[in-house]
Amino acid sequence: MIILKLGGSVITHKEEDTPTVNHENLKRISREIRESSIQKLIIVHGAGSFGHPYAKKYAIGDEIKDSEDLKRKIRGFSLTHHAVNELNSIICEYLRMQGIPAMPLQPSSFILTQNKRIQSADIRLIKKYLDMEFIPVLYGDVVLDTEPIKMAVLSGDQITTYLARKLKPERVILATDVDGIYDKNPKKYPDALLLEIVTSKEEIETEETTVDVTGGMGGKVNELLDLLELGIESEIINANQKNNLKKVLNGEKVTGTTIKKRNYK
Ligand SMILES: Nc1ncnc2c1ncn2[C@@H]1O[C@H](COP(=O)(O)OP(=O)(O)OP(=O)(O)O)[C@@H](O)[C@H]1O
Ligand SMILES: [Mg+2]
Repeated sequence: MIILKLGGSVITHKEEDTPTVNHENLKRISREIRESSIQKLIIVHGAGSFGHPYAKKYAIGDEIKDSEDLKRKIRGFSLTHHAVNELNSIICEYLRMQGIPAMPLQPSSFILTQNKRIQSADIRLIKKYLDMEFIPVLYGDVVLDTEPIKMAVLSGDQITTYLARKLKPERVILATDVDGIYDKNPKKYPDALLLEIVTSKEEIETEETTVDVTGGMGGKVNELLDLLELGIESEIINANQKNNLKKVLNGEKVTGTTIKKRNYK
């Protein structure tokens, strides 16, 4: 079983401040998944331009100041959910067109966080869908938070690592719009160096070029390093490159970053 996170930077035009699907990439990516040899797969996708601009506008995840602010945030929560859910529907439709039995699962309807970290989720459901050979498709969403903030933005990255802890997949793959983790943001610094292996946060600098309310590459790396603490490795690859995803799903080597412990000889 593989858990695959499809970055919002690949499936949407993330630089836009209104929801914009990257149809070309979605079509190709769905085909590459179908053409790969993978049988058991969970897909988690990010929000890209469907989520981050709304969540930022309504400051979901920030402290609620007063009852007026609560009302506004409730509206923003509902709007953000609507947008990411719409993206999820579009993605599932592309997958179904390839004959992939995509089954959308709304995180906001079965996951609760406590101070922005997943507190509870009924993963029996996901296991059951997997056993029945559905391809569950989850996504970065807004969720209720028990304490103290009441509403939070739950990133696709956090869902991915949570599921990896619980389900122990063979591989965890994160597809994004750059070749992997660099020592600094490659979109800003042309001399940035790609790191084949990342073992600690100290090796990199992150500075985001698009709005990402859940911390962009820095947030992703932190999630993946926490996962590594439990002995679970992960890989970041560029899904903008044709056939990269297909190859990586098939176990072929592609350019990218592996988050793993170094072997000292
Ligand atoms: N050190 C770094 N190495 C690689 N990318 C970096 C680095 N610092 C910042 N970035 C930026 O991180 C971006 C990828 O992270 P981002 O969270 O935007 O994408 P995503 O996770 O695919 O999208 P989403 O969060 O919508 O799912 C790249 O486009 C790159 O500009
Ligand atoms: Mg991100």
